[in-house]
Amino acid sequence: MRIARALPLAVLALAGCPKQEAPAGPQPILFGHVGSMTGNEATFGDSTDKGIRLAVDEQNKRGGVKGRPLAVKTLDDQGKPEEAAVAATRLLTEDKATVLLGEVASSRSLAMAPIADLDKVPMVSPSSTNPRVTKDGAVTRPYVFRVCFIDPFQGTVMAKYARDTMKVSKVAILRDVGNDYSVGLADYFAAKFKELGGTIVADQSYKAGDQDFKAQLTAIKGKHPEAIYVPGYYTEVALIARQTRELGMQQPLMGGDGWDSSKLYEIAKGALDGSAFSNHYSHENPSPVIQDFVKAYQARYGSVPDGLAAAGYDAARIAIDAIQRAPEVSGPAIRDALAATKGFQGVTGVITIDADHNAVKPAVVLKIQDNAAHYATTINP
Ligand code: PHE
Repeated sequence: MRIARALPLAVLALAGCPKQEAPAGPQPILFGHVGSMTGNEATFGDSTDKGIRLAVDEQNKRGGVKGRPLAVKTLDDQGKPEEAAVAATRLLTEDKATVLLGEVASSRSLAMAPIADLDKVPMVSPSSTNPRVTKDGAVTRPYVFRVCFIDPFQGTVMAKYARDTMKVSKVAILRDVGNDYSVGLADYFAAKFKELGGTIVADQSYKAGDQDFKAQLTAIKGKHPEAIYVPGYYTEVALIARQTRELGMQQPLMGGDGWDSSKLYEIAKGALDGSAFSNHYSHENPSPVIQDFVKAYQARYGSVPDGLAAAGYDAARIAIDAIQRAPEVSGPAIRDALAATKGFQGVTGVITIDADHNAVKPAVVLKIQDNAAHYATTINP
């Protein structure tokens, strides 16, 4: 019934557009998703894609947007920034995507952002948290948005949690130096932790793809920290956790949203029990908005949605909402509507886009027990 209601609009749209060859139905509005569907961060791309497709299918069941159905095309960047740039270019030039969704990883969103601006096509990152994704120096990138908080806040969240809840005063850092997100988050955490009276006793580094972290961990062990902050992605974090235990270190690890993956627990095999990380949402939150999403996702995919799935869902829904409010389906009109987003009830919180194109909203802290993450607390901006 709902789809039928959309048809007369579509006929009108076609009638007013004589240049177009009459297609069978109204032309879909295309979302181009760039994600790491393979590689070391494959669960990031996979979960995000599932969240996006759920949101888009729900909207299509309601009749689409402006009488047109929505479609999604996903290109795999294999977790590489240069491939993310190639994928974004292809989606804009060959597929004429109306909106770009992605990336998750800040380094890859940074590679896409100038392309979106140049082509004047809005890009919505579900979960890239580095400030530079939406801001080039002092200038807000006109077409780039995100539906998540940023790392100065995320770093503060864990610094406060370390001081107030874990009651630790000496922390070591182990950062991925090839990852914009990891480097930024390590710095923001350190600054806040020191401001709150803590000391950083060691600051070591690694690179994604490394397998052996024992040299760095041995150096850290000698400084006797009470906890280790590891703002990296799940594959390396899980290996690092196991190797701390192999070296006889019992300290908890702390981290950020980059830990969020079912693979973290598979690889860590219990080594992260007692550790904690900041994230975008908890599936354990009893709020009906979250539980409805969890149920719909589980019914469709047979798994519990992680924070990336939730953020992907919200990114698509924010884009849909903006297209609905925009006076026309064009890059500049959708851009203006995105910038005006206020009080949108998402799964990851209420989303209001600020002047820097970021979403201002709370973060949750998840604590790992019995090799699974559980809701610990919510920290407001
Ligand atoms: N926030 C991370 C980044 O900016 C990406 C990420 C988000 C990873 C959510 C996992 C979960 O690089």
